[in-house]
Amino acid sequence: MKDIYPGFPVQRLRRLREKAVLRQMVRENHLTPDDLIYPLFVIPGENRTNPVSSMPGVSQLSIDLLVEEAIDAYKVGVKAVEVFGIPPHKDEVASGAYDPNGIVQDAVRTLKKACPELYVITDVCLCQFTNHGHCGIVEEGKILNDPSLDYLAKTALSHAEAGADMVAPSDMMDGRVAAIRQALDKGGYEHIPIMSYSAKYASSFYGPFREAAESAPLWGDRRTYQMDAGNSEEAIRETALDIQEGADIVMVKPGMAYMDIVRRLKDNFGLPVAVYNVSGEYAMVKAAAEKGWINEQRIVLELLLSFKRAGADLIITYHAKDAVRWLKEQA
Ligand code: PBG
Repeated sequence: MKDIYPGFPVQRLRRLREKAVLRQMVRENHLTPDDLIYPLFVIPGENRTNPVSSMPGVSQLSIDLLVEEAIDAYKVGVKAVEVFGIPPHKDEVASGAYDPNGIVQDAVRTLKKACPELYVITDVCLCQFTNHGHCGIVEEGKILNDPSLDYLAKTALSHAEAGADMVAPSDMMDGRVAAIRQALDKGGYEHIPIMSYSAKYASSFYGPFREAAESAPLWGDRRTYQMDAGNSEEAIRETALDIQEGADIVMVKPGMAYMDIVRRLKDNFGLPVAVYNVSGEYAMVKAAAEKGWINEQRIVLELLLSFKRAGADLIITYHAKDAVRWLKEQA
């Protein structure tokens, strides 16, 4: 036995695993409610709940019910939400995105009034607001970069004016972080941070979200602006640029299949890294759990902890409310 490998039996890694207390004490990474951001979908009207069929447990909510859900989540221990808006009308220039009385702006104002302590982040994008479903302004079948920047900047500024605590651009146009930073600073919102979806991949994992946000592109796809799944070096370039442009927090999206990118960003830059545990990942877990094939609670908590281990500081997840409840039950 002594010669099985050098060090044995002096080194026995199982010693630290024997007792639960010690396992807890030597655990390197922890998941806490502070890490989680809960996405919410807001629709026009009153007293309306639209369940998203591919995301069991997630519904589009009118502002009144959104506030109820947010307050409920806050009471459970969720500290931050990210708001996605579905406007009553869509057009070529995404008017609803930067309308001071648009769906997101109204929702933010109402949320902050009802629950000032809740940290409210807004998704800044045009795709829910354009009639073609692309994240920028379109001309002759092309998604134009520079003309889109003004619209994105206006959108972010209008969110800040409505009371958003942080803005999160998810469009993937070049230069949008700089454009947004400039607009915020000019408007007197130099204190509002930008969480940039820096390494956002063109992914099939967004399928259910596009039902939830009614934002699927009418034609084509997002491959001319979102990143190619095969690329890793490019994620570094994207993120370095975003930081140079003024991003305060950088994000990797999707999550599960992109944990290597989370680790690379964490190791390369000194900034907080967020990860988006996207709709398709949520749908897979929910479907398998419904079938009784996996233990939902354990899978979710393991998954979220693994994001922390990969290097994420913040996790945007539809599981947030459940996860916080489970964490509290365990404590
Ligand atoms: C909008 C946006 C998307 C998601 C967040 N913001 C969809 C997309 O880029 O098509 C996806 C979120 C999810 O799948 O949970 N641009």
